[in-house]
Amino acid sequence: MRLAGNTVLVTGGASGIGLAIAERFLKAGSTVIICGRRADKLNEAKQQHPALHTIVCDVAKESDRIALMEWTTKEFPALNVLVNNAGIQRRINPVEQQEAWGETQQELLINVEAPIHLCHLFIPHLRRQEKAAIINVTSGLAFTPAAFAPVYCATKAALHSYTMSLRFLLSKTSVEVVELVPPAVNTDLGGVGLHTFGVPLNEFADSVMQRIDTGELEVGFGSSEERRKASREENDAFAAQMNARMLGNS
Ligand SMILES: NC(=O)c1ccc[n+]([C@@H]2O[C@H](COP(=O)([O-])OP(=O)(O)OC[C@H]3O[C@@H](n4cnc5c(N)ncnc54)[C@H](OP(=O)(O)O)[C@@H]3O)[C@@H](O)[C@H]2O)c1
Repeated sequence: MRLAGNTVLVTGGASGIGLAIAERFLKAGSTVIICGRRADKLNEAKQQHPALHTIVCDVAKESDRIALMEWTTKEFPALNVLVNNAGIQRRINPVEQQEAWGETQQELLINVEAPIHLCHLFIPHLRRQEKAAIINVTSGLAFTPAAFAPVYCATKAALHSYTMSLRFLLSKTSVEVVELVPPAVNTDLGGVGLHTFGVPLNEFADSVMQRIDTGELEVGFGSSEERRKASREENDAFAAQMNARMLGNS
């Protein structure tokens, strides 16, 4: 897909990877709508980029997702790109510590239920466009789970699988299905300061968005590019080493 000439909705577009994606679509001349839960973060993004359109939406809530689809397609009938970017990551150990189910459920709702439901809600509208795309943001951890965030990794593996099925299902339509597979990127994911070890956001975003612009359908960067191309044996060995290191029992 080309980055120019689209009308794009980016969930979780007020910060981090979502904002970096929004900025690159804007720069290419597309119209961009971003959503998120925090009005102040949306306003900050709009102050930085006055051309952005913003709407408060909690994608964990079914009613918000339906309202988002109804509002965006009414206000922006040319909408032709959905970017399912909103996500959270929680470091938990369910073996050592029980938590209220509602906490776990939020991660499942935001990372899996929301993108799948939004795809279902928007597909009829997208199919009416001459050219359209869905971009789902997964993770290198979809391929090599990190046990410190077991639910997060499961959600990303599920979204990777769903994205592949959707690509088959939509292959004869006007809708392209793209998977963006980030490695660790320096954003506020999981809380401020938890991803400072990640690659620089702009370096990552410049590379992956340029490749998406040339028509690639599954795009990683650095270690996630290696993970998505590796064999099962290579990924098992990588995951074993990573988990031994991170859980401190190597
Ligand atoms: N950074 C990494 O290392 C990394 C690696 C692999 C994959 N990813 C994926 O990249 C995506 C973006 O993450 P990021 O690193 O940019 O983290 P981030 O800076 O924390 O951004 C996440 C964005 O999602 C929004 N969001 C979260 N829950 C939401 C909800 N219920 N409804 C609407 N918006 C919601 C947040 O805004 P509000 O809080 O205001 O709602 C925020 O703008 C996520 O899917 C993440 O899993 C990130």
